[in-house]
Amino acid sequence: MNSFQTSISTISWAFKITWDTNSRLTAGVVATAILRNLLPAALVLVVKSLVNTISETQSSGEQLIWPILPVLMLGLTISIVEVLSRNLSVYFNERLRDEIDIDVSSRILEHAATLDLFYFEDPRFQDIMARARQNTAGHFSQFITRIIDAAANSVQIISLAVILVFIEPFITVIFLLLGLPYMLAHWKLAKLRYQTEHSRTSRRRWTGYYLAQVLDRGAIPETRLLNLAPLFIRKFSALMAGFRNQNQDIYQKGLSIRITFSILSTVGFYAACAWVAYQALQGSLTIGDVVIFLAVAVRLPKSIENVVFAMTNALEDALYISNMMELLAIKPKIVDGFVPVPATRHAGIEIRDLTFTYPGSKQPVLDHLSLTIRPGESLALVGENGAGKSTLVKLITRFYDPDSGSILMDGTDIREFPVRKLHEKISFVFQEFRRFEATAAENIAFGNWLELLDAPGQVEKLAQLAGVDDIISRLPQGFDTPLGRMFGEHTLSEGQWQKLAIARALAKPASLLILDEPSSSLDARAEFELFSRFRDISAGQTSILISHRFSTVSIADRIVVMDSGRIIEMGTHQELMALSGHYASLYDLHQRKLS
Ligand SMILES: Nc1ncnc2c1ncn2[C@@H]1O[C@H](COP(=O)(O)OP(=O)(O)O)[C@@H](O)[C@H]1O
Ligand SMILES: [Mg+2]
Repeated sequence: MNSFQTSISTISWAFKITWDTNSRLTAGVVATAILRNLLPAALVLVVKSLVNTISETQSSGEQLIWPILPVLMLGLTISIVEVLSRNLSVYFNERLRDEIDIDVSSRILEHAATLDLFYFEDPRFQDIMARARQNTAGHFSQFITRIIDAAANSVQIISLAVILVFIEPFITVIFLLLGLPYMLAHWKLAKLRYQTEHSRTSRRRWTGYYLAQVLDRGAIPETRLLNLAPLFIRKFSALMAGFRNQNQDIYQKGLSIRITFSILSTVGFYAACAWVAYQALQGSLTIGDVVIFLAVAVRLPKSIENVVFAMTNALEDALYISNMMELLAIKPKIVDGFVPVPATRHAGIEIRDLTFTYPGSKQPVLDHLSLTIRPGESLALVGENGAGKSTLVKLITRFYDPDSGSILMDGTDIREFPVRKLHEKISFVFQEFRRFEATAAENIAFGNWLELLDAPGQVEKLAQLAGVDDIISRLPQGFDTPLGRMFGEHTLSEGQWQKLAIARALAKPASLLILDEPSSSLDARAEFELFSRFRDISAGQTSILISHRFSTVSIADRIVVMDSGRIIEMGTHQELMALSGHYASLYDLHQRKLS
């Protein structure tokens, strides 16, 4: 059984993680679980000795209580220890669950943080991620508890069975035989539950998507105006109803399995009662034996049910835990190199014969592209939507690795640098930059948070450079005003957010600055001013600017025109105009529109 093997290999792994999380709590859980499960058998023995002592005392004609006192004391002690271990076990479990919650969630997050961007664009990976996040921590702590419960309950069954063997071996065999098919049926049901849930992953993500269309702030205006809510709610409900119907089948299977076992074990119990009673009447069993038999036989089916329940659920948990193992097994493809990044103020970039295809797509987006950017040069990239401009700068930043060709920074292939060190050298204002739910100061300081989170003076200087200080000082708490409407009461206009993003990019002492259409919501004049200023600020910094505005583009030292993943023209504004090619025709079109 394949999934069974998975479960077995998961057990040691899960135990190791639990032990590493908190070894003392884990030891506490194990110890109390074992105690809790061993003591019932001891209590049965106490009862037997109590009954026998009473009947011996009776037959000797004495009426004194003292011979049974030690037995009672022993029973009392065992009962108290049992109560203590049962309740301590609950307490240790509760605490361990919280510890595992923290540990497992951070493990998943830390691993996800190492994975390449393209994984997050892959629906199959998103399914894996969704499964790994789906209450894995809960399954983890349950798994450990249930494994221990199953093991300890098995000890209890064995101890009860041993007692029973001495009375009547035949009955023992019947009870144990009953447990096996029950176990198999339950295991199949657990597997069915897991497989059903597994197959639902994409549909579950769809339900989350429909919810977001109705509930997310960003989605609401369009959803409202087009009255899409009823449509999305209907789609959401249809998916949920599908889940409910599947669940119903599973519940019914579970119901019939449990009822069958209960009836069979009850019938078995009464048949065994009849047999034991007959033996007692025949004189081959004592009254004490009968009492023990009753005590054991009442408990045994319950214990068997407990083991089956704990075992199959633990195995089901193991399947869920293997979801996390599946995620952890995915390794980043973009790996660190070991060459130290050169400490230049302005980077030189050389792109050699670069070809790149997005994972899962067939058409290359960049097609044998070569380009050299001199240290300190400011380069503008222009071209129609979809030409591959954003893709090119994402490759320079090593969000993706190329199919073939290479990118060199200051003479070294960027794949030879540690990725984080490369990123420290690059400032990037994205086409879709972030609007952080944080104070205005933090929104800037995040650009270099290790140094700037506690440096308000420097943050204010950066705000001045980006021309955003006026706006911030007009906020009710100035730089300390929380921005964003998820948690706070203040937000900015698109253009103001953009300036904040630019201040953030300036915060980093980078040697390459990339601006990917960051100013689409600024008007042409504001953009021109911003970039003129930018050039002054970043004097000496190599910069790549992607823009559709000719006013801005013409500031650059050199303009590169891209089309379908290739460079088709290159030069200064004057040179390109004189060429009367693609750039010149785009420019003319633009001018005609303006006039
Ligand atoms: N993450 C992605 N996955 C798959 N294809 C993409 C992705 N991003 C962009 N593309 C495709 O690559 C092409 C170039 O996109 P892009 O570099 O964003 O163009 P530009 O920035 O010049 O407008 C487009 O055809 C787009 O559909
Ligand atoms: Mg783009």
